[in-house]
Amino acid sequence: MAESTARRADPLRVGLVGLGEVGQHHLRGYLSTDRARVVAVADLSAELTAAAAGRTGARACSHWMDLLADADVEAVDVSLPHDLHLAATLAALESGRHVLVEKPLGLTVGECDRMIEAARRADRVLAVSHNQVFFAPHVAAVDLVRSGAVGRPMMTRLRLGIGGRYPGWRLDPAQAGGGLLYDAGVHRFYMAREIMGDPVAVTARTDVAAPGLESEGSGVVVLEHGDGSFAVIDANYLNPSGTFDDRIEIAGDAGLIDLAGCEAAFEGFTNEPALRLWADGAWQVVEAAPMDWSGSVQAAVRDFVDAVLDGRRPRVAGEDGRVVVAMIQAAYESARTGRRVELAEMLGTRVTTEAGA
Ligand SMILES: NC(=O)c1ccc[n+]([C@@H]2O[C@H](COP(=O)([O-])OP(=O)(O)OC[C@H]3O[C@@H](n4cnc5c(N)ncnc54)[C@H](O)[C@@H]3O)[C@@H](O)[C@H]2O)c1
Repeated sequence: MAESTARRADPLRVGLVGLGEVGQHHLRGYLSTDRARVVAVADLSAELTAAAAGRTGARACSHWMDLLADADVEAVDVSLPHDLHLAATLAALESGRHVLVEKPLGLTVGECDRMIEAARRADRVLAVSHNQVFFAPHVAAVDLVRSGAVGRPMMTRLRLGIGGRYPGWRLDPAQAGGGLLYDAGVHRFYMAREIMGDPVAVTARTDVAAPGLESEGSGVVVLEHGDGSFAVIDANYLNPSGTFDDRIEIAGDAGLIDLAGCEAAFEGFTNEPALRLWADGAWQVVEAAPMDWSGSVQAAVRDFVDAVLDGRRPRVAGEDGRVVVAMIQAAYESARTGRRVELAEMLGTRVTTEAGA
């Protein structure tokens, strides 16, 4: 969207689509700011819409298409299964609404292109909920890396160990777009990018890891930066039940950073210090603003609201979501073919917008 200096005083009128697991935390995000008002909610579950409408005074709709018919809605929050992101987002943008989409932006880079192009044509904000970018210990760690506290970052290790697969549509690759890497794994890819920048090439191995599954349940991904630095993602669904490990370790030539995990803390898997820095021969705990996983989702929501009302680029724009989808697609392509896949190959022709140019 074209940047503007205008700062709007009245609240953004939001329609919330999808009130499932993450939609509940989006709702909390809108309720946490007086810069937004939830005017309509949509979910196929009448129970969920009645509860949300009761809390907010919003109009209750069933299908997301019914919500788009409400002229009062000027921004749409899409917290739907992955295969519905494209249709709901395109329709919202084409009817002149700003959109925040949950991760991953789309099922393919081509889908992302269509959404980015629709936002450009409509001159509307398209933001992606890469919530862990807003997690306060992650923000502090990225600031430390950028300020040179670890020297040159050479190796970032990002873990994802979950005890048991998510149920429902996430088990169906046609709806989810893939397996573990495409679902919860997205957070690892965008955090690797936050810390290390865009990789030049991706190499991966994946496995279904358990009988009866259609998509991968374990995988190792090497993101190569072309200057001797790497990020490595290891992910599996076969941790013991009740565990959730999403630790990040950053090794630089002058220091180390240890992040105990965003959802790991929220799920009660760890109570270790959220952020530690090894420098000058010792580990030290670095204090970050108190925040949990839900708080990071709510912060992503507030950034979207502020971006629309203040006429600025969101912290995570459609173009960012597109690069992250390309990174995961490159990992799948590498796992399928056994070859090292350059990111540029997956990105193909870049869609140019004022924000991404
Ligand atoms: N950022 C995070 O940490 C995080 C965590 C969980 C999920 N997610 C993402 O959020 C999105 C939703 O995942 P979820 O776990 O909340 O799923 P979910 O299944 O819990 O909720 C999805 C909701 O969408 C509703 N829905 C389906 N079709 C609809 C339609 N046509 N119209 C209106 N409502 C419809 C369903 O009834 C359901 O309540 C996905 O993109 C997922 O990857 C992100």
